[in-house]
Amino acid sequence: MDVNEKIKHIEQQIENAVNEVESSKSLFEVKMRFLGKTGEISELLKSMREVPPEERPTLGKVLNALRQKAEERFDAFEKKLKQLELKKKYAEEKIDVTIPGSCTPDGAYHPNTLIRNELVSIFAGMGFEIFEGPEIENDYYNFTALNTPKDHPARDMQDTFYLAEDLLLRTQTSAGQIRVMENKKPPIKILSPGKVYRSDDDATHSPMFSQMEGLVVDRGITLCDLKGMLDEFAKKIFGANVKTRLRPSYFPFTEPSVEVDVSCFECGGNGCRLCKGTGWIEVLGAGMVNRRVLEGCGIDPDEYTGFAFGMGIERIAMLKYGINNMKLLFEGDTRFLKQFKD
Ligand code: PHE
Repeated sequence: MDVNEKIKHIEQQIENAVNEVESSKSLFEVKMRFLGKTGEISELLKSMREVPPEERPTLGKVLNALRQKAEERFDAFEKKLKQLELKKKYAEEKIDVTIPGSCTPDGAYHPNTLIRNELVSIFAGMGFEIFEGPEIENDYYNFTALNTPKDHPARDMQDTFYLAEDLLLRTQTSAGQIRVMENKKPPIKILSPGKVYRSDDDATHSPMFSQMEGLVVDRGITLCDLKGMLDEFAKKIFGANVKTRLRPSYFPFTEPSVEVDVSCFECGGNGCRLCKGTGWIEVLGAGMVNRRVLEGCGIDPDEYTGFAFGMGIERIAMLKYGINNMKLLFEGDTRFLKQFKD
């Protein structure tokens, strides 16, 4: 191939390559293919050494012209390419300010959390401190120390999940009473919220649910103090007109034991569906701390007395919000939960 043909050939190749280039990056590669240190034009310039001296000036001129033409071709194309790329980028990044924004929905507190927070704030206002006991308990704290030794018939009141011979999922936050009284001398005034577990499952029972326990121990505490405090609590959570009444009941760790009812806040006590026509709604269990329980914790029952109460948080939530199936509180269905957004 003579030099002129070679030059033509290279020019054609440059044209072909440039037409296939799609980005500045590949343009750079094409540029190197012809003008790089070992590029085709550079190689051609090197080959000048083999040409007789008299032909060199002419050939040099032609080759330099080729190089310059190639450089100009690449520069012009690069400019065009950059403009195209910029245009494309602008088109892609265009923001349509008229498109409606997508918003992240606000979260809401779970009804259980709402009630728990409300209870904590009511009782904190009365000077209660929070104590949280373990969910995995041993037999002693959950039963024996609460005056419920093995074979005591009251154990049947709560169907227990056992993890091992002596290890169980606590069936009541009352276990925390013992942990507190073992470690603290009166005056004691604690509130203990937490999850409890029982093998029980229907529209108003769940194998896992939450309780709120209260314990007050000091000199001269009487059932009157319990009643006064419960009146206050009932008014705050269910409404100013709500009254309480105590009915005799039985718990091994309290003596006497009571079941606490509130007057129906739905019908004002006349009788309706919520209170099943009785005018009263049962909300919690309570009583005076059994002497044997105080003694077991090293507290002299002749010097100190106390009361305790325990309520189911889900039950209070169901009553207060008119929820008829406890499952709704555990399913996490957002259609249900978003109704509690304030
Ligand atoms: N622990 C009892 C229960 O789960 C409730 C209770 C607590 C009763 C404190 C009396 C005193 O049923």
